[in-house]
Amino acid sequence: MKLSAILALAAAHGVAAAPAKGVEARAQVDGAAPHVDDPKFIGIVMDAHWFWRKVHCAQDLVWNATLAQEALESVSVCTHGLQHDRGGSNLSGVGPSPGNYDAWIEFARNSIHGWHEEERLYPYSQPHYNDAWGHFSQMVWRDSSQIGCALGHCKDSGDGAVQWPGRIYCFYLRAGNNFAGNQFELNVFRPVCAPPSRQEMERRYGY
Ligand SMILES: *[C@@H]1O[C@H](CO)[C@@H](O)[C@H](O)[C@H]1NC(C)=O
Repeated sequence: MKLSAILALAAAHGVAAAPAKGVEARAQVDGAAPHVDDPKFIGIVMDAHWFWRKVHCAQDLVWNATLAQEALESVSVCTHGLQHDRGGSNLSGVGPSPGNYDAWIEFARNSIHGWHEEERLYPYSQPHYNDAWGHFSQMVWRDSSQIGCALGHCKDSGDGAVQWPGRIYCFYLRAGNNFAGNQFELNVFRPVCAPPSRQEMERRYGY
């Protein structure tokens, strides 16, 4: 699967798009996509956030199963494109959708680490919100302490009804990307904190 095939969308706090009226829910395929309680899927999400949040001086996140269930309900609507239901959410989609369990895990890993790649665009000297780095800023947002994510496998009927049939939605609490006052300055730190040590990495990742 090519990373370039992944479309990512970020939402800012306060400008979360309401679900479009009249959008008909499309079927989700009950296939190989790992479920919201899949330990390997949760591990991928938590490890990637743990690594980057450590580097950017943010607290480690706690998995919230209710939040994951909400992300699942949102991703399962299978709207035409990726669609934010609220602020504090990170979404990515891919087409065609991953073909098996391992490919789904890889998609989740690539999506989440890919969010951090937006860091090179982030203007630390003039901190503010922009869609171009919204995933990154949410990912390392210091005031967020919980996360819940879900994968969605939307039925691709081949008629263009569904773009990006493979999807990952992550919801955060508190929601990041709050553009009030100097919240960006307070919540998005430069990568000045020590990355996990070799030993910590080994303990966490097993290598
Ligand atoms: C987990 O998320 C749910 C749903 O957003 C929220 O209502 C709940 O307070 C969270 N749990 C904790 C322990 O904060």
